[in-house]
Amino acid sequence: MRTQRIVREGNSVHVFKYNDVVTVLSNHNVFSSQFRDLLGDDIKNELDSRAAPSILILDPPRHTELRGLVSSAFTPRKIESYDNYIRELAAKMIENIIEKGRCDLVSEISYPLPIMVISNMLGVPEKDLKKFKEWSDALATSLGRGPDLRTQREMSEYFLNMIDRNSNEDNLISRLSNVSIDDKKLTDQEITGFSILLLVAGNETTTNLITNALIELSNHPDIYKELVDNNKIAGDIVEETLRFRSPVQSTRRYAKYDYQINGFNIYKNDFIFLYLGSANRDEEIFKDPDNFNPFRENKRHIAFGNGIHFCLGAPLARLESRIVLEEFAKRIESFSIERLNPDDRIDSDIMYGYKRAIIN
Ligand code: HEM
Repeated sequence: MRTQRIVREGNSVHVFKYNDVVTVLSNHNVFSSQFRDLLGDDIKNELDSRAAPSILILDPPRHTELRGLVSSAFTPRKIESYDNYIRELAAKMIENIIEKGRCDLVSEISYPLPIMVISNMLGVPEKDLKKFKEWSDALATSLGRGPDLRTQREMSEYFLNMIDRNSNEDNLISRLSNVSIDDKKLTDQEITGFSILLLVAGNETTTNLITNALIELSNHPDIYKELVDNNKIAGDIVEETLRFRSPVQSTRRYAKYDYQINGFNIYKNDFIFLYLGSANRDEEIFKDPDNFNPFRENKRHIAFGNGIHFCLGAPLARLESRIVLEEFAKRIESFSIERLNPDDRIDSDIMYGYKRAIIN
């Protein structure tokens, strides 16, 4: 069956095909991420007084400036330096599930691991982890339903208290407090805004990637056996999971001007829904797209987006999930996941993953 190309519903436009999604994502002059420009002044002022808008919802030139600043504190080399820490954490969690026997993969590994890693990177003390998980949950549930002001306020206050411009500690908040380009530094509100974004954008997504990869491996014992024999294919399995079970199924833009996508009329102020999960299974781009095949040649999925907003945390998400698969396969010869029900799925139009997955 061929995927419907573009569908209009009032002023909402739904885009499904790979090339059309890439056209929109790579054309940020026409398709804006700055949705707050459409909000009323009251709500905009309330939001801005707490945390500055994050790079995810900014257009150039501010996006370019801010991304330049934060990415210098978030380089792939810096991320790789967390390899040992993540590996030890993953190993401990996996040994714990081996001891437990039948248990829930999500609550034992996929959920706690990313949140512990990002908290450690930010410099959040372990005693505050529980509070962190609650905030992260609340923000994830509010995605796509408008801003959760109460949680944002609590988190902003927490992060504001952590900012220390004189600190030389090696954590992300200190680095964000001190990075500068052309003598420009991040404001307090920008640091809190970015820290919140890391929690919102990074946790549930990576949780789902880890769970989705292990679910797929339980569906393919032959591929799992190959992984047990050869750890080096873990990266390929992660990439194919990103394509085949994309943790972020969709993202959005709005049109600043009239435009045509491949002959389809777009009008100023249209909302454009971009289905990354569908694009990643476009039969004109990926051969045999509904088949989970980590060894496929074309790995150019767009699960991390495309263009100027390409996921800043991609190296971290890739590292965490690859390490979990490697450490898992080192210790567990074979495993199965109990039948999943529709109720086990996360209740979201945007995220794709499971609330629980019982492993045996
Ligand atoms: C942006 C997916 C993990 C931080 C994005 C975008 C996607 C995405 C699709 C682009 C959204 C758009 O263009 O509208 C994912 C997936 C992840 C993941 C599938 C895990 C499997 C992470 C992690 C972090 C992170 C671990 C950080 C700790 C960000 C940031 C942006 C972003 C800061 C905004 C970049 C910008 O606007 O310039 N992510 N993400 N993400 N992601 Fe991720």
